[in-house]
Amino acid sequence: MASRYAEAHRRSLMDREGFWAEAAQAIDWEKRWDAVLDTSRPPFYRWFKGARLNTCFNALDRQVDGGRAEQTALIYDSPVTGTVRKFTYRQLRDQVALLAGVLRMHGVRKGDRVLIYMPMVPEAAMAMLACARLGAIHSVVFGGFAAPELATRIDDAKPRLVLSASCGIEINRVVPYKPLLDQAIALAEAKPEACLILQRDQLKCELIRDRDFDWDEEVAKASPAACVTVEATDPLYILYTSGTTGMPKGIVRDNGGHAVALAWSMKNVYGIEPGETWFTASDVGWVVGHSYIVYAPLLYGLTTILFEGKPVGTPDAGTFWRVIAQHGAVAMFTAPTAFRAIKREDPDGALIRRHDLSKFRTLFLAGERADPPTVEWAENHLKVPVIDHWWQTETGWAIAANCVGLGQLPVKHGSPTKPAPGYDLRVLDPAAKEMKPGEIGALCVKLPMPPGFAPTLWNADDRFVQSYLADYPGYYLTADAGYLDADGYVFVMARTDDIINVAGHRLSTGAIEEVLAAHPEVAECAVIGAGDALKGQVPVGFLVLKAGAKTAPKDIAAEAVGLVRERIGPVASFKTAIVVERLPKTRSGKILRGTMRHIADGDDYKIPATIDDPAILGEIAAHLKDAGYAREPR
Ligand code: COA
Ligand code: AMP
Repeated sequence: MASRYAEAHRRSLMDREGFWAEAAQAIDWEKRWDAVLDTSRPPFYRWFKGARLNTCFNALDRQVDGGRAEQTALIYDSPVTGTVRKFTYRQLRDQVALLAGVLRMHGVRKGDRVLIYMPMVPEAAMAMLACARLGAIHSVVFGGFAAPELATRIDDAKPRLVLSASCGIEINRVVPYKPLLDQAIALAEAKPEACLILQRDQLKCELIRDRDFDWDEEVAKASPAACVTVEATDPLYILYTSGTTGMPKGIVRDNGGHAVALAWSMKNVYGIEPGETWFTASDVGWVVGHSYIVYAPLLYGLTTILFEGKPVGTPDAGTFWRVIAQHGAVAMFTAPTAFRAIKREDPDGALIRRHDLSKFRTLFLAGERADPPTVEWAENHLKVPVIDHWWQTETGWAIAANCVGLGQLPVKHGSPTKPAPGYDLRVLDPAAKEMKPGEIGALCVKLPMPPGFAPTLWNADDRFVQSYLADYPGYYLTADAGYLDADGYVFVMARTDDIINVAGHRLSTGAIEEVLAAHPEVAECAVIGAGDALKGQVPVGFLVLKAGAKTAPKDIAAEAVGLVRERIGPVASFKTAIVVERLPKTRSGKILRGTMRHIADGDDYKIPATIDDPAILGEIAAHLKDAGYAREPR
């Protein structure tokens, strides 16, 4: 059957309002919109203005009412605790309603912020849905961030309540969450009124009287709360993501456009049918987890798997195949790094063959560039289409994809295929002129963005405009560079800012530099993202010490590594700090981070004409070689 992609994409741009109004039929609205797209305040566009709905109602209650009450909504599969728990739509709705009752008991009302700092347990998804039920705005913070990062988010979001747990479980250790939370609250200026703490059997924690409340005890006392209707344009959540400074960006997601885009994507991008089982291996702390572990699958009536484990080590590299086979998943979504980890441990795919994957149709990868060798390995061993797709926290769903639900297009390795319907993707030169096929430029999307895209940054309209809309008026700047080939396939090559992608996690080298610069004996520093066979990139820091520094350089390097772990968190994967005599700079004093990255990756590179002293590059290369980088040119 011919793909319907081209027609869908054309129509989504020629008749935007008709296209998305039709998609909006999949959602139950308490009141229909006055305008499908409000264009009265460019560059701020709003979808479904005047409409009213509740996202939790759409994800749970209407599924219960519509015949899915006894269908499994969520499967919690946790190899790290040896647990599998299933919740029907009715059970999930009832538990979420009770938890919403607890939130209400603690004074949470529509528009209030609630911060969620939790491991991958079903209560994390329940917490998000309970907020949505009350019209409260959740902000989930990934468990791998350290206390100062959590404090920054508390200060920006000013949550009335924090929902957390006693611990998370990593491959090799139990991570106590409560001390991190206590430290973050001590550091933050905005003090939450209360914390609701889930006590896990693996590690209990002390509760602070009158501030901390036991999750289970509170739920036992609560009565269920009904859904509170909100405007389609009201915020559903804030998700902080790395910006170019230590201050993360609070990406805001609205209720109406988000629900429409996600429900549409489940069928058309992913080709899934209601009632089927879907497995996203990510974390609720990331946008992939928000969209495709929690909201999209439930809005669309699927069974979603919430997996507490890693692709390897819990217990082995066959864990994904066991989950797929045991629960009958028809598709899975994860990051390429997970597959690199599996490939490393099970190069011949022997563990894949031990499981019955007969129901499994498609593998979706996103979060970082899908390198062709990894995609080929997955294709060869899984024998299903492997679909790369490109998206960002800001967009909430795919900017470019091979929309298998519309009829799969031929796969080109290294490309996430074509712009998804709703995205008018252009490649621009610095003068905002469109570039020819094959020429690399700034990947930009002509406004308006489709539903689901962040309407703004939390309390920071100006930063939103400056970050995304000011450089190319009339366009959204993705901050990714790339090109379109002659067939219209997108190739995403690199970020144009200081963001690096470490194991599918987005990190700012600028934020790491801010931490290193705070070391009392560091005069100057630079951080680059060096290529890594497993994680895609890892941060590598260069430190120039103050004259007369008293501590030995190797101790300062070790302290720097410790500082980043303490201030940003283990998720930064910052393990290499190199003390150097000086940094390569242009004559005007700009640090040549790009050149250092090329050296680290063993790429061919040109010595910049503006370099102050080319001899420094040799010194940097020697240091990088000692640290295991700067191999032969690739
Ligand atoms: N809470 C506390 N610590 C956490 C954590 C959490 N939720 N998540 C990660 N960490 C820690 C890890 O334990 C590790 O600590 P270490 O330095 O002591 O080893 C560190 O943060 C780095 O984590 P990670 O980058 O995940 O590396 P890893 O070596 O533990 O695992 C992979 C490597 C490839 C298996 C892992 O990155 C993975 O599963 N990636 C999948 C990608 C993904 O889910 N991306 C999300 C976007 S789709
Ligand atoms: P995040 O906001 O954490 O999802 O990170 C978004 C960034 O990850 C993008 O701007 C890209 O740099 C990168 N990214 C995500 N998906 C892909 C992909 N399929 N191919 C290349 N890069 C990707």
